[in-house]
Amino acid sequence: MINFTYYNPARIIFGKGTEDQVGSEMKKLGSRVLFVYGGGSIKRIGLYDKVVKALNDAGIYFTELSGVKPNPRLGLVNEGIRLCKEQKLDSVLVVGGGSSIDTGKAVAAGALYNGDVWDFFEGKADVQQALPVGVVLTIPAAGSESSDGSVITKEDGLLKRSFGSEHVIPKFAIMNPEFTYSLPDYQTACGASDILAHLMERYFTKVDHVDFTDRLIEATMKTIINNTPLVLANPTDYHARAEVMWAGTVAHNNLLNTGRIGDWASHHIEHELSAIYDIAHGAGLAIVFPAWQKYVCHEDMDRFVQFAVRVFDVDFAFGEKELIVAEGIRRLERWYKEIGMPTRLSDVSIDDKNLRIMAEKCCANGPDGNFKKLTADDVYEIYKLAL
Ligand code: NZQ
Ligand code: ZN
Repeated sequence: MINFTYYNPARIIFGKGTEDQVGSEMKKLGSRVLFVYGGGSIKRIGLYDKVVKALNDAGIYFTELSGVKPNPRLGLVNEGIRLCKEQKLDSVLVVGGGSSIDTGKAVAAGALYNGDVWDFFEGKADVQQALPVGVVLTIPAAGSESSDGSVITKEDGLLKRSFGSEHVIPKFAIMNPEFTYSLPDYQTACGASDILAHLMERYFTKVDHVDFTDRLIEATMKTIINNTPLVLANPTDYHARAEVMWAGTVAHNNLLNTGRIGDWASHHIEHELSAIYDIAHGAGLAIVFPAWQKYVCHEDMDRFVQFAVRVFDVDFAFGEKELIVAEGIRRLERWYKEIGMPTRLSDVSIDDKNLRIMAEKCCANGPDGNFKKLTADDVYEIYKLAL
């Protein structure tokens, strides 16, 4: 286990009726709020009206920034920064999923910065301060409700990039599983795929003696693997929805990478896909991960055997290490298919046209990943395996 500092100040307010607390929680953060949300799902599920009433009752002034699209764009971030600066807004409230939260975080950082907010995404500047952000989460997926990250796509060049800063970790996240009942099956499955990916990115490490976090990650993976089919079979199963929602936060609040080094190449390989083809992040991950596993497993077969045996219950009696590992990957693919995820680029009508370009973009700043350092040629091979 390596040295670590663990700090996550996001207050999690979880369960039925917790949205009633949004006014009192926002009041702690400010009195002039930028209210960020997406394409309208929060209006259809009655959450918008509840939030507006809560803000009014708390005497909070707010301005809306709506229309955040999945794979959120820089243009709307700049619009939000302009509103914050012009109207002297002092805090950000996001109601929605990862795309809206990431937009809110980028606005929060950009509002207190004199340069171009894209500097943070290019690593040209570090975030020194940000407006405080509060969240009401409506989809368990990205983990952005308590992560330090923001992922935004710049329209010019279709560059999907991220930055991380403690300053943008939300101050609170209100999570009522009932507000996830309305998710279409496909979005539920994309969210589950993303959560599982956040766990696998941390699980495949080269650091030894990480038994405690291995076991925590395995428990969280099992929770997602077992509960996602229950949620799909019965979308109003409160308890299964609650298991997935809480697991989704813990998967990405950095507790599970304490003392170890994760990989993240699969995420970056996926980001190139969703930047160009605008597919859902979780769907892209279901395509990339099996290919990545097949390509890198020989780096540490014992870890892959452990994954197959402990997470997908492959019996040691299955045979040689190679067979056990292959069966683990096969069961992962089977699970993706069972929940309705694509597992090949051809499933989402992507051909080989842009594979080389995406591989080069992915490794523009050098080799990617930690479990195995991947060059652009390696990434190209992984895309080809996923065809
Ligand atoms: O826009 P609305 O109308 O709200 O509809 C959304 C959207 O179409 C819909 N939705 C959300 N909650 C709903 C609902 N529909 C019905 N009922 C509800 N309760 O779901 C669709 C997807 O929303 P989105 O916010 O895009 O989903 P998600 O949370 O998966 O976020 C994906 C984005 O997060 C980034 C991804 O790259 C992607 O851009 N990520 C952010 C991370 C972070 N900040 O830490 C880490 C992740 O690895 C990820 O990269
Ligand atoms: Zn992700």
